[in-house]
Amino acid sequence: DFTEPALKTVFAEDFKIGAAVNPLTIQSQEHLLAYHFNSITAENEMKFESLHPLEDTYNFRAADQLVAFAREHHMAMRGHTLIWHNQTTDWLFEDKGGGPVSKEILLARVKSHIQTVVGRYKEEIYAWDVVNEVIADEGEELLRQSKWLDIVGPDFIAKAFEFAHEADPKALLFYNDYNESHPLKRDKIYKLVKSLLEQGVPIHGVGLQAHWNLYDPSLDDIRTAIEKYASLGLQLQLTELDVSMFRFDDKRMDLKAVPAELLELQADRYEAMFALLREYRDVISSVTFWGAADDYTWLDDFPVRGRKNWPFLFDEGHKPKPAFHRIITSA
Ligand code: XIL
Repeated sequence: DFTEPALKTVFAEDFKIGAAVNPLTIQSQEHLLAYHFNSITAENEMKFESLHPLEDTYNFRAADQLVAFAREHHMAMRGHTLIWHNQTTDWLFEDKGGGPVSKEILLARVKSHIQTVVGRYKEEIYAWDVVNEVIADEGEELLRQSKWLDIVGPDFIAKAFEFAHEADPKALLFYNDYNESHPLKRDKIYKLVKSLLEQGVPIHGVGLQAHWNLYDPSLDDIRTAIEKYASLGLQLQLTELDVSMFRFDDKRMDLKAVPAELLELQADRYEAMFALLREYRDVISSVTFWGAADDYTWLDDFPVRGRKNWPFLFDEGHKPKPAFHRIITSA
């Protein structure tokens, strides 16, 4: 029984409100998800290694279950993700002898994967993170080292968007990345997406993962990032929002319960963030959290294994936190 206003209603005129889910949380968080959220993303179940463990074996069970959950609760669904350097099986990059596969074969394999997956969920998935995290965080290089880059060259990015567009011409296709508000990386993401647009590549949006914390990135950096990506004429989505209690390089392990003053700081932070996001409601079409409530977050194991974190608007019992009340009253 929920007495608080529903997020999806409060922000109905602004953007969709999403959550990353998995087969466990659609059960343990079903009521919370159904009440507050109108969009979901599969946390792991649509990644390459989950869907396509062997060349001739697809495994759609878990993904189909999440798609059915979205349908049952009249939620939109985002697809995550087609091309990434993580959670992708080795067979894809190898020939039968275990050596690196040729560029032609890798492109044929990825085309077939994208056609199969995007084609299967044509009616259900309205937006895809086609390419995830290919920009290098530091240094002069634009693209990070990867097997994709080694074998195909930088063209793998444009090709992936073309394959996805062929498979579902109606789907909105996104480039998605983290550290998206960091000045150096923001400029590189902008440069990549701009060059894709100039080549006529079918790309429709930029996904800002938004793995943020109480202190970073600054609101100014977030604002500049939004304006810069929006200047490309594309729509933006926050795709993986969480607000960690710890700075990224803070490796402290000693917080067992969350202190009230951190909950207040988090409320200040969420209030300011949502005020900013609402200013850009014409370009931001969706805000997805990378989870829903503090009983389950990937941050409990990242970047420090086994350290509890409390990044969301709902606590471990699914009750609204100070941050929830603050963004609701200021909306
Ligand atoms: C994370 C999942 O939440 C974890 O369960 C998994 O172990 C690793 O991946 N950027 C992304 C997401 O694009 O796919 C990642 O999800 C978090 C960082």
